[in-house]
Amino acid sequence: MPKQPKFVPSYTTRLGRAYHADSREFLRQVPDDSVSLVMTSPPFPLRRQKAYGNVPADEYVEWFWPFAQEIHRILRPDGSLVLDIGGTWNPGMGTRSLFQYELVIRLAKLFHLAQEFYWYNPSKLPTPAEWVTIRRTRVKDAVTTLWWLSKTENPQADNRRVLKPYSPSMKRLLKNGYDRAMRPSQHDIGPHFQRDNGGAIPPNLLSIPNTRSNDPYIHRCKAAGLTIHPARFVAEVPAFFVRFLTETDQLVVDPFAGSNMTGQVAEEMGRKWISIEMNADYVASSQMRFPDAVPGAGRPAAKAG
Ligand SMILES: C[S@@+](CC[C@H](N)C(=O)[O-])C[C@H]1O[C@@H](n2cnc3c(N)ncnc32)[C@H](O)[C@@H]1O
Repeated sequence: MPKQPKFVPSYTTRLGRAYHADSREFLRQVPDDSVSLVMTSPPFPLRRQKAYGNVPADEYVEWFWPFAQEIHRILRPDGSLVLDIGGTWNPGMGTRSLFQYELVIRLAKLFHLAQEFYWYNPSKLPTPAEWVTIRRTRVKDAVTTLWWLSKTENPQADNRRVLKPYSPSMKRLLKNGYDRAMRPSQHDIGPHFQRDNGGAIPPNLLSIPNTRSNDPYIHRCKAAGLTIHPARFVAEVPAFFVRFLTETDQLVVDPFAGSNMTGQVAEEMGRKWISIEMNADYVASSQMRFPDAVPGAGRPAAKAG
């Protein structure tokens, strides 16, 4: 009798496979140099423990290291790891934990830091309340850092795939022309600034509100009585990096997949994807993102929506 493969998908789609597994084990059997992008948001070391068992800040680097080694091995030489990791406060103090800097310095033993991005969420609540709204000695913490790490110094990337619409003043300038002049910053604004490149090069500040509580995933989960993941990506965040760092048909992996927003975005953009999530309820509900998904033999069997 042929040997049963160790990991069997919980569901599959045209381009992707979702697994209910511990990614520490799963990643070991992914071939070397096979993945273009690992786009992920691991559990954050939060002050209050969330449902999915977050790791304390002082243990975080050691906890993450085995994942980092496997991710490095499976990335193609031009591949990237984008890590979405929020900062945290030291318990009981109005000071910040340095864990994410310690993590990045450790990761730099394996990866290059290609660039850091800041996801500004204007709808963030004013927390921690003790310092922000009661003592009023800190301001709202509304930025999450996304660390773009690469296996080599030249990761595949093309900012022409993520251009923003031009501002009204830039549109005017393109239409009416510009008087060649030296700017106060001493930059000489030459005629190349007048070329229409189809959009503006985006900055590394992604301003995206996290207010969408009304998407089809939520409706379908509610209708099917399935657990809604409490810490989902806003689609625009993984979408930006999938578009920027990968091409059609390349492979995107999320080893901490949660509600599998990364898989959904990859599917919509024509990229292959693999998602790994160790909480059975989250895997089951993530299938609600894919009305055409085919249930697999892997645990858990998701209920129909
Ligand atoms: C911050 S959430 C990710 C949310 C996700 N980005 C989304 O859009 O829904 C982190 C997830 O990692 C999962 N997780 C934690 N340790 C894991 C492991 N060793 N293997 C697989 N999943 C794990 C948790 O259960 C949790 O759902």
